[in-house]
Amino acid sequence: MAQCYVIFGYNFFYLILVPTQILIGPFRQLLPMTNLPLKGPLTDNQLQVLEEAAIVLDGDKIAAIGPYTLLRNKYPTVSLLEIKEDMVLLPGLIDCHTHICFGGSRARDYALRIAGTSYQEILKQGGGIHDSVAKTRAASLEELARATAKRANRHLQEGVTTLEVKSGYGLSVEEELKMLRAVRMAAEQTAATLIPTCLAAHVKPKEAETADAWLKEVLLYLLPVVKQEALAERVDIFIEDEAFPARLSKGYLEAAKTAGFSITVHADQFSAQGVPVAVQVGAHSADHLESSTEANLLQLAASDTVAVALPGASMGLGMDFTPARTLLDAGACLAIATDWNPGSAPMGDLLLQAAVMGAAQKLSTAETLAAITSRAAHALRLQDRGQLATGLQADMIAFDAADYREILYHQGKLKPAMVWKGGQKC
Ligand code: NIG
Ligand code: FE
Repeated sequence: MAQCYVIFGYNFFYLILVPTQILIGPFRQLLPMTNLPLKGPLTDNQLQVLEEAAIVLDGDKIAAIGPYTLLRNKYPTVSLLEIKEDMVLLPGLIDCHTHICFGGSRARDYALRIAGTSYQEILKQGGGIHDSVAKTRAASLEELARATAKRANRHLQEGVTTLEVKSGYGLSVEEELKMLRAVRMAAEQTAATLIPTCLAAHVKPKEAETADAWLKEVLLYLLPVVKQEALAERVDIFIEDEAFPARLSKGYLEAAKTAGFSITVHADQFSAQGVPVAVQVGAHSADHLESSTEANLLQLAASDTVAVALPGASMGLGMDFTPARTLLDAGACLAIATDWNPGSAPMGDLLLQAAVMGAAQKLSTAETLAAITSRAAHALRLQDRGQLATGLQADMIAFDAADYREILYHQGKLKPAMVWKGGQKC
């Protein structure tokens, strides 16, 4: 196969055929992350580990995967990127929950928190998320886009080839639209795929009379424009007494769903009221779960809603990790994401956080790697990535290692040596 470029000349045109196939290998190990069950526990012997393997790319897609010598014979004329060191190849990582579109910093909040003031107390006093709202409103569309792209590009270098990005620091119709337009603009300044989510229901804006009045305004005036401009297909809400209690959230999410959005929820971060709503409205994911009751964990595990653990928020707030082991044993689909944001989770290092939480929660290597690849893709309902297989996106990362177990062993210090996004080396 080749990519066709048509160049128009004087009264005629030339057709130039540019070959776009490339064979890359041999990799000491190649982990396709395919054929794994979506839900429940995983053992390492369920992982397919291909030794001395290669991959053939055709443009931005995967054309073939198999033994290096066999593929060399089968594709004798394609260009070759020969891998001369021991390398382990994996699908590109997917961060299914971030808030990387924001202005300013919350280092002051962090200093207050480590000295003993709680996250909710700072929020009640008008700081916290409100502080980021003021700083984000003060930033121009272009500044926000640049800041977002810079963070996405840092993620890309660390192997994250697809990441979700939420709004939620605008909190007026115009400022929420500015954030979502900034995410769209940022997508042009990074090779990583950005998946936007409308989190206008982050907290009640200071200007709104009541939480209920703000949700009505979002439904009436914001979501129709988001739909019309195709700025996001997903809607999120922070379900907490300090934000939006469960009794208000369900109707809002049902209306958003009727308007054609898929749903994700900030659930059970401080109080166990989010999961029942998430499951009832058929949310694609319920994220946080640090304070879930056993009943909520079981309800989630029995549903099609993905449980997303956010170890970066536990580290940033000094809280216990999400009970990931219990969730998996109960049969849940577990994904892990960074929650990268200026307040609760400023670090934004997916591999480090997944490795550290995996050690604390006794997750197998297969469970942790699936949680940041194939299962994270499912949290976003993306079927074309998170695994390496013919026809899927050529998003992949290679580690300087001879054994895949080295990756988590170094607890985030071993970063990918090579990253490909849509077949292009970054
Ligand atoms: O997921 N808890 C709600 N939202 C974010 C934090 C946002 C912030 O503190 O700026 C979270 O932790
Ligand atoms: Fe979050």
